[in-house]
Amino acid sequence: MQIIRSGEDLAAACASARQAGRLALVPTMGALHAGHLKLVEEARARAERVIATIFVNPLQFNDPGDLQRYPREEAEDLAKLEAVGCDLAWVPAPEDIFPEGFSTSVKVKGVSERWEGEHRPGHFDGVATIVAKLLLATMPDIAIFGEKDFQQLALIRRMTADLGLAVEIVGVPTVRDPDGLALSSRNALLTPDERSLALALPQALGDARSAITAGQPVADAVGRVKQRLVEAGFLRIDYVALVDAQTLEPIDRPAGEMRLIAAATIGTIRLIDNLSVSAKNG
Ligand code: PAJ
Repeated sequence: MQIIRSGEDLAAACASARQAGRLALVPTMGALHAGHLKLVEEARARAERVIATIFVNPLQFNDPGDLQRYPREEAEDLAKLEAVGCDLAWVPAPEDIFPEGFSTSVKVKGVSERWEGEHRPGHFDGVATIVAKLLLATMPDIAIFGEKDFQQLALIRRMTADLGLAVEIVGVPTVRDPDGLALSSRNALLTPDERSLALALPQALGDARSAITAGQPVADAVGRVKQRLVEAGFLRIDYVALVDAQTLEPIDRPAGEMRLIAAATIGTIRLIDNLSVSAKNG
């Protein structure tokens, strides 16, 4: 695996990778777990060459403390990427990403405004700006993102369509621990007690999905999720909602492709999760 640290090396490496066929990009912020590695595997199945990026993007942290605490495990990450057959790893320096006087921001309206957008002001502008930059710097045929961050995936699809970027965006289903908790770098920060209580999140979402699919009222199902999270000891529930899978607008009568989404805090750790939902009669 070639490790790239400078902008000039990147252009040359991507050009020669593209000569081998399709190039797939997997953007990450490092501290890699099996969820990230699944994206690389998916990239390998769809393209001749795979480039992963590791960059803890300061633009998307609305809390400076969170940015400082964010785990940095570069050597381990590079070993993991190599082990799953990644061809190129780009680990940019901040100055490669942000030239002096950097003042540009990409804002995706609509799909980014509710839910995470409401609770993490500025977060999605930071995500859209960095993802646009990573796409323009590597010019991949395919870019792979996790459904774990479902709203992020939806806004990246919107952005690439709006900007006419010639890249196929692929979403990969959430990788979970055997008991159902979605993998996240934040899980390592949970105490053993919190870790077992956190299971209420995927379980309550799963039960709500069954209830909605069986035709029960959406508001009742959503209300029960909130109640179960409170009972499990979640201290703050930012949102639980059934939304349209493309626009992320809330839905009260099931129709089309939908997603049940939630964000809640246990102890000091904020967890997000989501499940796909299909309507009873399509
Ligand atoms: P990060 O949190 O490092 O996640 C990198 C990618 O891994 C994202 O596409 C995310 O959705 C995916 N991912 C995380 N946990 C997953 C899981 N359990 N199963 C499947 N995929 C999972 O998301 C970001 O970084 C940043 O916002 C980024 C897109 C890199 C821009 O800075």
